[in-house]
Amino acid sequence: MTTNKPKRIGILTSGGDAPGMNAAIRAVVRAAIHQDVAVTGIRDGFNGIFAENFIALDARAVGNTLQYGGTFLGTGRSARFQEPDGPRDAAAILKKRGIDALVAIGGNGTYAGLAALHRDTGFRAVGIPGSIDNDVGGTDFSIGFDTAVNTALDAIDRIRDTAFSLARVFFVEVMGRACGQIAAAVGLAGGASAVVVPELPVDIAGIAADIERGLAVGKQAAIIVVAEGDITGGAADVAARVRAAVKHDLNERVMVLGYIQRGGKPTANDRILAAKLGVRAVQALRDGDDPCVVGVRCSTEAVTPLAEAAQASSAPVLGQEVQRLAAILSGIPESAAS
Ligand code: F6P
Repeated sequence: MTTNKPKRIGILTSGGDAPGMNAAIRAVVRAAIHQDVAVTGIRDGFNGIFAENFIALDARAVGNTLQYGGTFLGTGRSARFQEPDGPRDAAAILKKRGIDALVAIGGNGTYAGLAALHRDTGFRAVGIPGSIDNDVGGTDFSIGFDTAVNTALDAIDRIRDTAFSLARVFFVEVMGRACGQIAAAVGLAGGASAVVVPELPVDIAGIAADIERGLAVGKQAAIIVVAEGDITGGAADVAARVRAAVKHDLNERVMVLGYIQRGGKPTANDRILAAKLGVRAVQALRDGDDPCVVGVRCSTEAVTPLAEAAQASSAPVLGQEVQRLAAILSGIPESAAS
């Protein structure tokens, strides 16, 4: 069983950082050491390969890191790697450094990079899903999503206090440029009256009608969760359009949660996911399952071919279902007149 075992694994984090990335690096390093495989850390994502910005990672180097957000290796998006010769040049540098397999923690862009590296050079590659957006192929959950949801939820609980004290409608914008997973989860957990996600048309008339119906039955405050702007228009835009469609004064406020959702201590769930997937990634190399990504599907660890995962996005967004549940849970009878 030792034939597939790499001699030295390179590890990097790429794309947007996500809480739990440090825990995943630690898990890969410790699992590799457990199998007598050496690990080299690569700083600042794929950029660090070209800059030869390497750091030896032993068991102690990753000690006391798993509780911190961000990534101690740094991250980035590499234009050079996307040039036609990028993967070939990168593989040559990695080989020169004695690295014979690469583990990369990140989202879809990271997987695309890994897939190009393997396609162009045959270099051994394993991906670990790390993104707060939870839109990564080959897994139901990516590392960082749970923390981001809980951070946003904490903010919404605080916003509720003031919204209900002053009878205001709050439009709260959460992250997720092209993916409504955070909005859907936070909306349901935070008792939002409506959830706006990029995967579904923005139903301004429907939201306005719900607010009017709520007012008719004495509901003067509400939380509307909106996924960030590229497709939905963002919370400010949605708020302006709803205001224009409602006859009453909403006393509305807009709150953009922004990058606080990307930082902070990873939750227990994210650390546990990172631990499992870090160990699984090293095992996948030992077993010769690469090129692949590791993830969880239906609560079970899953290994998916890299090319397949690089094409796919994660579990279908709960948007429609969450909108249905939010309408039921807002406490307004269907029959209430708007
Ligand atoms: O990490 C994912 C994400 O937070 C998206 O939701 C967001 O649109 C994007 O990253 C913004 O990141 P940046 O400003 O670093 O490109």
